[in-house]
This record gives sequence, C-alpha cells and structure tokens, in this order.
Amino acid sequence: MCGIFGYCGRRVAQPILMEGIRRLEYRGYDSVGIATLSGGRVFVAKKKGKVSEIAHQFAPAALPGTLGIAHTRWSTHGIPSDRNAHPHLSCDGKIAVVHNGIIENFSGLRELLEEKGHRFSSDTDTEVIAHLIESFYQGNILDAVRKALKGVEGTYGIAVLHAHHEELIAARNGSPLVLGIGTEEFFVSSDASAVVEHTKKVVYLDDGELAQITPRSYHVFDLKKGVKEKEVSTLAWDVQEIEKKGYKHFMMKEIMEQPESLQNTLRGRLDKDVRLSLSGIPREFLARVQRIMITACGTSWHAGLVGKHIIEKYAGIVTEVDYASEFRYRDPLLTARDLVVVISQSGETADTLAAVKEAKRKGATVLGIVNVVGSSIARDVHGGIYIHAGPEIGVASTKAFTGQLAALFLLAFYLAQLRSKPVPRPGMRQLQNIPEVIRKMLADTAFISAIQKIAEKFHAYPNYYYLGRGVNFPVALEGALKLKEISYIHAEGYPAAEMKHGPIALIDENMPVIFIANRGGAYEKIISNIEEVRSRKGKVIAIATAGDKLMSQKADFVIHVPDVEYELTPLVNVIPLQLLAYYIADLRGCAIDQPRNLAKSVTVE
Ligand code: M6R
Repeated sequence: MCGIFGYCGRRVAQPILMEGIRRLEYRGYDSVGIATLSGGRVFVAKKKGKVSEIAHQFAPAALPGTLGIAHTRWSTHGIPSDRNAHPHLSCDGKIAVVHNGIIENFSGLRELLEEKGHRFSSDTDTEVIAHLIESFYQGNILDAVRKALKGVEGTYGIAVLHAHHEELIAARNGSPLVLGIGTEEFFVSSDASAVVEHTKKVVYLDDGELAQITPRSYHVFDLKKGVKEKEVSTLAWDVQEIEKKGYKHFMMKEIMEQPESLQNTLRGRLDKDVRLSLSGIPREFLARVQRIMITACGTSWHAGLVGKHIIEKYAGIVTEVDYASEFRYRDPLLTARDLVVVISQSGETADTLAAVKEAKRKGATVLGIVNVVGSSIARDVHGGIYIHAGPEIGVASTKAFTGQLAALFLLAFYLAQLRSKPVPRPGMRQLQNIPEVIRKMLADTAFISAIQKIAEKFHAYPNYYYLGRGVNFPVALEGALKLKEISYIHAEGYPAAEMKHGPIALIDENMPVIFIANRGGAYEKIISNIEEVRSRKGKVIAIATAGDKLMSQKADFVIHVPDVEYELTPLVNVIPLQLLAYYIADLRGCAIDQPRNLAKSVTVE
C-alpha cells in the first residue's frame, strides 16, 4: 500500500517520476505527490486524486531538476486530501519525505517535536519523519536519517531528499524497497515492476538497511553498522508484461493470460515425475513431514483451502489452513517436524510475512508459494515455488490464483512421490494439459457470451450467493470475493450444504445463487441444494460440466466448463467466475483495476 518512486540521474526527473507512480498506482490511489531538487531548492506538488486525473496539474516547469521523489497514497492516518498527500516537509521546507508503512509511535514523537517548536501541517504519521530528520540534521543528511530512524517504531519504506544535497536517501523496515541500477542513474521503487522499463539490474533492500544514492554511485548501509555489500539481481520481467496490451483493464488482460501463466508455472516441473527444486528444504524432511500448516490472506488463502484438499488426498498429510493475520497472533502449535506453507502473490503482504517469521521462530520449516521474484517473503522462506505468473497489476487477483493452484498440485504430487504414495498419472497428465484446456475456454465465443448475458441480466442485483462443495467450496469463496472487490455487490460464499443452516432464509426471487456443480464430487447432493433454492424462487446460475443436460433443466442459467478430473475442476471453474465479476463490474461502470478502498499489496497490518 502506497507506492514510492525516486530518481537520481542526469535526465529531467519529473516525467520519470510521473510514470513511476503511474505504474505503482495499483498500490494506492488516494493522492499523488512529487518533490524535486534544483538549484538548492525543493519543489513540491501534491494533490488528492488519481494520477490520471491530476497529472496535468504537475507541470514539468514547476518541478525542475534531475533528482526527485514521488508517492501515490493509500491512506492510513488522515483522510485523503491535498494536505495529507506526500511528500511531507520539514519546517524549513528543505527536507522532503515519502513513506509507505505505519509509524506506530508517531503521536509520542509528534508531541515531543511540537514541544520543541515544530509545526505540523498534516494529520499523517509520516510527517514526524521529516521533522525528526530536521531535528537531527547537522550538515549530513544520511546521518540525520539514520539517527531519526533509530527513534521510529513501526514499518517504513522511505525516500528522502534535502535541498542542500544532491543525493537521495532510501530506507526500509517492513515495507518493500528496491533500487534500480542504471547507467549513471538510479531509481528507488516500492516494486520492481516500475523500474523494469529503465533497467533490469536491481538491489533489494532488506529491513534495517538504508541507501545513499547520488547521480554517480550508490551505497547501502546497515542502520546500525557500516557499508553492506549487496547482490545485484537481474529482473526476468519484460516491459511489455506491465502494459495493458490493448485490453481495457489489466484484470481482463490477466484473465486472458492464464493459459500462458499456467504454462510458466508448470514448465519443466512435470513430466513422468514431478520435479521441484526447493533448495533450502531437504527431501528427507519432506518425506517425513508430520503436518502441514498453510497460511495466507485473501485469494491466496482460498488457494490454500484447495491445497488442503489435494495435499491430504494425494500425499496423505494432515493439512490445516489459517489466515495469516490469525496465525501470527494465536501462538500456533508448531514443531520442527511441521511444514508451514505460505502463499502470496506479491510476497509483501504484512500479515503473511509476519506469519513466516513466527513459524521460523517456532522452529518450523517454511515453504513459500510466491509470484514476485525477490520479494520479502520469497527471500525469507527456507525454500519455495515461484509461480512465474508474471506481473499481476489488477487489484483483483486472477492469474496468480490459478498459478497458486497449479503449484499446490505440484507440491501435493511431489509429496506423494516422496512418500511412495500412488501418484495419480491421469491427474498429472490432465494438469499438464490444463493451460490448453483454459486456452480453448477463453477462445470460445459461446462460452464468453453466455457469461456476458448473465452479467447483463443480473448486474443490478444487490446480493449474491456462491455455493460449492469440497474442493469447490474455496472456489465459491473466490468467486464471491471477486464480485465484491470490483463491483461493490454484496456476495457470500458458502459450502452448499451449510445453506440450510441459516443463509437459506435470504433466498427469494431477488437472490441469484451461483452453484459450482460439476459432475463428480457431491454432484447429487448439489442437485438437491439447487432444488432447495429453486423451491424458494431463488435464481440459479450453475457452473456445470460440458454436456450435463440435467443441469440445463435444473438451473435458470448454465455455464459449461470442460470435463476434467474432479480435483482439477477449481482451475476451470474459477475462469467463468472471474469473467462474470469482470463483466458485471464493467456494466456498473466500476474502476475495475483500482477498486475503492483497496490496494494490491497490503503491506500494513
Ligand atoms: O499478495 P498476496 O497474495 O499476499 O495478497 C493477499 C491478498 O491481499 C489478495 O489476495 C487480495 O485478497 C486480492 N485483492 C484478491 O483479489
């Protein structure tokens, strides 16, 4: 949440900064701000609104110089407004700070600083950093930042500039920051996706580190000790991957990319055996694992629920699933024989990262299923599986979910193999073929228009139920979450049989109920659940197996999906649910890639 971008080099900074925060806007879009340095003066422009709405108010002439910092905000302390927009300035206007994170002791610090005569001009926690740095400044900005940060509690990724220094200071504790290393120019960004158009060479800052960047060089320091040698990594992403490529929204582009992204998840990992290289996690340990605990947030947690089913089924290992935000605080019972699996698209979710630390503290081995290479979670786990889905920019997660499912299948099959369990050959072959199956679904105009018709009919309804059973109950949750996030319609997912225990009270002719009702699993039971809804006049929309004629009689609307092994059905069922949410949101005129109140990666608690 919140995007930070900084530039220090020989080019004019303003357009580079504008483009940087435009690319980071998925992290927050309440307000925008830039500070640049020129001729010993700091120039600032900041405004409430989205980059596209207010870009014209950030005139290049008003923001001169070749060094600057920029910010796109997701508000925590203080409402979205011009005065709360970053950068925040010191009293003398010479220090400018942009920040991502939460300063927990900001009220105490603010009181102290006010007693010393500092005057504040915003309601944010961030502003204390600017004043604190000012209070320590004695001619050396790096030194002042270091001293200030020693008194700060909480999380931060910051970028700082001072009117009298041709340098940019960046520091990190709990909020991601990456340095882009160009030729005689350097970048600071919350996320590597915003620097890839300039350079593929990056340095990931770790917690407790700060960087001093000048137009000629950069140095990384430990907050407490001296200079640190940092590895320079090379990004595998390409600039085309972060463009919309003609699609109206990133979400649609990412839905359509699923055949390719799934291919990337599976490539080289599945032929007659499953091959996973989990470098830091010995095979002998995995062969004897006593229990698996999966933890994640949001969509990734839904993937984890599917993971429980398939790991228990194929590998025969007791598997539990917990929200990372609960896991981290509930003192989980863990032993050295437990494997904790964390799932995260961004690899930066604060609760999931804290869960990794908690699991490690308790002696468990931690395996990550992560999309963003080099992210905090990816670097903190003992070993892991990158899903290689490519950058996911739309706030509503789509291709990451299917990549996570594919990775969980690989893990389940791999564990089965290590434990000499019968590995299901047909399932493995079908998983291999899933990208092709989804490619055909997405190219099928009858399939797409069936979904569009349902969206047209139901987009004004205020409430929805999503019902599924077994391995498809998490898919029901995921379908409901997609609809809520981007269309602002109230939707709930339930295990279909639970409906009778309360939710059925809400069924009437105004309630669309989406059943995930593939053949196999508890098909007959689902048919009974459909009857129960129909007899109360609910509108039934069924996701059903291709060729299922019975379902066409039972449901008001049917979306047919390909006939695959029952356990693999989540991979095909989620596709129409993603599309349905998309088309409904589009018909309602919603900001699909930037839904209100949401941010792509939740890097604060
Ligand atoms: O990056 P992560 O997978 O850790 O993110 C977890 C959730 O914040 C994320 O899945 C969220 O629920 C998405 N907006 C869902 O579409």
